[in-house]
Amino acid sequence: MLEVKGIKKSFKNNEVLKGISFSVESGETAVLLGKSGAGKTTIMRCINGLETFDEGELIIDGQEIKTPSDMKKIRGKIGMVFQNFNLFPHMTVMENIIESPVNVFKRDREESIGKARELLKMVDLEDKEDFYPFQLSGGQQQRVAIARSCALMPRVLCFDEPTSALDPETVNKVVDIINKLKKSGMAILIVTHDVMFAEKVADKKITVKDGYIDSIEEK
Ligand SMILES: Nc1ncnc2c1ncn2[C@@H]1O[C@H](COP(=O)(O)OP(=O)(O)OP(=O)(O)O)[C@@H](O)[C@H]1O
Ligand SMILES: [Mg+2]
Repeated sequence: MLEVKGIKKSFKNNEVLKGISFSVESGETAVLLGKSGAGKTTIMRCINGLETFDEGELIIDGQEIKTPSDMKKIRGKIGMVFQNFNLFPHMTVMENIIESPVNVFKRDREESIGKARELLKMVDLEDKEDFYPFQLSGGQQQRVAIARSCALMPRVLCFDEPTSALDPETVNKVVDIINKLKKSGMAILIVTHDVMFAEKVADKKITVKDGYIDSIEEK
């Protein structure tokens, strides 16, 4: 589903990624591990098109991506949940979830609302659709962010440090949600420093070191 082939990326004369290759299959959860500054977030940003890369290619859902313009081919096929959730503060939970499907992808509003309700049920927040983000706990906001990133039914879903602000019980909820998404056939890529969390969700552990992949451990 996701293939990363020989990705290189420099910021000025700092070569952060020196040739990164790995793959994540449909229905698989891969975890990216490595020291602070190793390049994990940069890898994820390259996959999401938030950052360009200098060399190499991505293959996402069978589409080759080499240049920023190739990213158009896979619009909506990759979702990302950011560390700070990035919810729109002036929009309700429901409006946050349907914003991109309705306004960007021009999907039917009623259908999008129906889909959003299913997603809110999946993350256990079906009673919160009219709440604003500030009325929710951090863990609830995180789950809204997950529901929002699933609204376009992406084939690949990326999480950057999804548990860093969560208590252990809420982390277990996130584990359950990730396992449900995995069963639905998504390829899931997670950056985390949380070793216990990684143990619970990972089918594959990928360690990044000095700009290279240091090891790939399949479970
Ligand atoms: N926009 C940028 N401009 C210049 N340098 C950058 C930029 N983004 C990242 N870097 C550099 O790339 C390197 C890797 O950063 P990255 O954020 O990918 O690390 P990370 O593995 O996610 O670390 P952490 O675990 O602390 O989040 C760092 O040395 C950082 O300074
Ligand atoms: Mg990071």
